Amino acid sequence: MGSSGLLQPALRRLEVALGDRSYPIHIGTRLLSDASLWSQLLPTPASRRLALVTNDCVGPLYAETLKQALDQLGCQITTIVLPDGEQYKTLEGFGKVIDGLMQARMERKSTLIALGGGVVGDMAGFAASCYQRGMPFIQVPTTLLAQVDSSVGGKTAVNHPLGKNMVGAFYQPQAVVIDLNTLSTLADQELSAGMAEVIKYGCIMDEAFFQWLETHVDGLMSRDPELLAQAVYRCCELKAKVVAMDEREAGARALLNFGHTFGHAIESEMGYGQWLHGEAVGCGMRIASQLSCQLGLIDTPTKRRIERLIAAAGLPTQAPNWPAQIYLKAMAHDKKAESGEIRYVLLQAMGKAFVRPVDDQAVSQALKASQGPLEQQA
Ligand SMILES: NC(=O)c1ccc[n+]([C@@H]2O[C@H](COP(=O)([O-])OP(=O)(O)OC[C@H]3O[C@@H](n4cnc5c(N)ncnc54)[C@H](O)[C@@H]3O)[C@@H](O)[C@H]2O)c1
Ligand SMILES: [Zn+2]
Repeated sequence: MGSSGLLQPALRRLEVALGDRSYPIHIGTRLLSDASLWSQLLPTPASRRLALVTNDCVGPLYAETLKQALDQLGCQITTIVLPDGEQYKTLEGFGKVIDGLMQARMERKSTLIALGGGVVGDMAGFAASCYQRGMPFIQVPTTLLAQVDSSVGGKTAVNHPLGKNMVGAFYQPQAVVIDLNTLSTLADQELSAGMAEVIKYGCIMDEAFFQWLETHVDGLMSRDPELLAQAVYRCCELKAKVVAMDEREAGARALLNFGHTFGHAIESEMGYGQWLHGEAVGCGMRIASQLSCQLGLIDTPTKRRIERLIAAAGLPTQAPNWPAQIYLKAMAHDKKAESGEIRYVLLQAMGKAFVRPVDDQAVSQALKASQGPLEQQA
């Protein structure tokens, strides 16, 4: 896994096409220290007054590298360091970012840079959306999950004691900068959690990508840099496409919740922090595949392929052993803001998803089947 021989791919660039709110995603190695890229992303003197928001885990690892590049451009930098953890993704944490911006007298055309995983990105992005009614911000995601999912698409939020991500805004960044080198320090469990979202894209919208993942899952888990680069690129491409079609989740974007209805139930009943989000989603995808199979939408071999890939990515596959009622209640609560009816993301083939309600009895049966170990596979 050593860093020698790290790829030097041509800088890969994608675009999230949202009219005058369009923005680039840059994917590559050593981008944190790439002064010429930063010079391009921060073209005006006003934009070079900036707040670097990070946490006390990621900051010590990467803030200095980024600052050195920004210093070369003569940037004036204020660093805001948050405590690490989902439990700090709160209105209080949001307040800390705002306090830091105020104290540094940031202006409306200053830039906020969010350096960290999805927690930092969500919280700093929400603060950017509110500060002086909106200041430019750049996402620099450092977890696999944030690189393939949360940093792209403009959903920002903090949690409320009564519900996760309940206070937030749709607010698009100016750019997303993905430095693949940051993945080298990520814990194995976090890498697996990110893989859940990667697998999700294959299941719902790209059969060829799913097949590619089956071939390369071991290489990805051992952090082969070129494979990681390709996976991140493809996921961002798919997410950018969905977001461009449906920025505010009126339709297609809901398919990205594959595995999440069940996953959220596991997270909330277990108590947040027990299972990582990606772990709950991995297990949720097993349940959703089981349900799709039971309803005759996909065949057993397709279901098994999904189960195998989830397991190969080091994710838990056995759903917690609670009565179905517990899940159903948690899922109804999760969806309360909508019509009250639980709508499930199901597969009708590998790479093809849709949304529909399902009767509780079929759901209970799928839950039960997913509480045991995976069936022996030929
Ligand atoms: N906005 C969206 O569309 C969206 C989508 C999915 C998830 N999310 C949110 O994202 C959050 C989860 O994000 P996450 O999985 O990135 O968790 P996270 O931000 O908590 O990061 C996981 C852990 O890894 C550490 N870390 C981050 N980068 C590291 C690195 N390069 N090396 C070593 N350690 C590193 C973090 O400090 C943290 O301890 C949740 O709050 C979820 O609600 C948002
Ligand atoms: Zn997710």
